Amino acid sequence: MTVLFLSLLYVFVPLVQGSDRIIVVLALIGAHAVIFILIYQIYLTYLKPNEQIKVVLDELIKGNYSARAYEKSHHGIDRLGYAVNKLAFNLQNLNRQDKMHSRQLHTVIDNMESGIMLLDTQGYVQLINRKFTNLFDLTEQEVKNKLYYHVLTHDSIYQAVQDAFLYEDTIKNSITLTKGNAKIYIEIVAVPFFNESRELRGLVFVFHDISELKQVEQIRKDFVANVSHELKTPVTSIKGFAETMLDDDSIDPEMLRKFLTIIYKESDRLQSLIHDLLELSKLERDEFKINLNRINFSSIVRESVTIVKDMANKRNVELILDVNDDLNLTGDEQRLKQVILNLLYNAISYSKKDGKVHVSAYKNQQWLTLTVKDNGIGIPESLIGRIFERFYRVDQGRSRETGGTGLGLAIVKHIVEAHDGFIEVDSQYGVGSTFTINLPITHGLTN
Ligand SMILES: Nc1ncnc2c1ncn2[C@@H]1O[C@H](COP(=O)(O)OP(=O)(O)OP(=O)(O)O)[C@@H](O)[C@H]1O
Ligand SMILES: [Mg+2]
Repeated sequence: MTVLFLSLLYVFVPLVQGSDRIIVVLALIGAHAVIFILIYQIYLTYLKPNEQIKVVLDELIKGNYSARAYEKSHHGIDRLGYAVNKLAFNLQNLNRQDKMHSRQLHTVIDNMESGIMLLDTQGYVQLINRKFTNLFDLTEQEVKNKLYYHVLTHDSIYQAVQDAFLYEDTIKNSITLTKGNAKIYIEIVAVPFFNESRELRGLVFVFHDISELKQVEQIRKDFVANVSHELKTPVTSIKGFAETMLDDDSIDPEMLRKFLTIIYKESDRLQSLIHDLLELSKLERDEFKINLNRINFSSIVRESVTIVKDMANKRNVELILDVNDDLNLTGDEQRLKQVILNLLYNAISYSKKDGKVHVSAYKNQQWLTLTVKDNGIGIPESLIGRIFERFYRVDQGRSRETGGTGLGLAIVKHIVEAHDGFIEVDSQYGVGSTFTINLPITHGLTN
């Protein structure tokens, strides 16, 4: 532009004379200045914002949604800047929401109780969660983007993938893992997933740890086996003696009486077994509720001791009572009596000849405590934890001799726990045992 101005100056100045020459020069300089200002204004209004918008768009393309263009007004090119800024703002919001959703999804998936593995149609692992890595002792790097059969070599998993892809349907299977000495049972569910046009996009694997369920199932099976076994013994005996008596008319009365006594004892045993089983099933029912009343615990202990006195005398076992009179509480009288009687029967049954059973009850701020201490045969330390199991007897022979079913302590534990209390055992083999029940004051216990 300056060249054009100089050229014009060069052409026009020689054409005029005197003071007109100054006017022409000044006019040209003025025109030059006006044109210069005009161009600069165009640059400021259109070209510079345009440049800036281009830079912002480049940033948006790169994923930097915080970039913004300078906008002075809402007109002309500024309107474009405003639109670009609005777009950037919306993109930034969408991106923020997207990140939040993916974080939420990630949190849910990672904190699921079941293991998750997502496969694409080629069989490459696309996603796993924390439970999965814990179950299989694998790291994310060892699994992600690897072929599933290089990661998990179990036949059932391979079969489940094949079937799920082939039938395009949910497939269930199971595997067993060994961790140290423990066996972990896993149920696997392979679910194919599809896009909108029903094309298979991959498989979602869910791994449920069903070890606890298996354990419960095993306990149930053991229980059924134990009950059958316990019932079989007296029934066989009753049947055998009854058959002998039916077959042989010449049995002398003394023998007959002996057989009938055995039948009576065995049927008695059968009855107490059935009674205890019914008791247990009643206690284990969800809707079981203890019948709470204000009761005098001291008098229940005394009554129970009176009931077992005969049995103790027969075995030459001395009963020593040390119970305060003022032990009142809110509890189930019949059930607590059952607890005390069970502990007393055990203490007497598993006493040595001329043994001593010490019964004491007292309370502190928090607990009402009953201890039944004997100097009997005791329990080997390694077996103490098992005596509350149903049907568990340390010495099968001795316990059966005393008519025991092995259900007594299981019942005791249930009742104590129903009162929000707990039971403790301290025993030394050959020296004696102390059973302590603690009933909490917070369960309505008062002075
Ligand atoms: N005071 C004790 N001293 C030594 N062993 C005991 C004592 N109390 C319980 N046990 C052991 O614990 C086992 C389980 O006791 P539990 O009372 O549940 O069954 P049980 O006495 O055999 O039969 P029951 O169901 O008729 O009471 C007993 O068989 C016995 O071996
Ligand atoms: Mg018992």
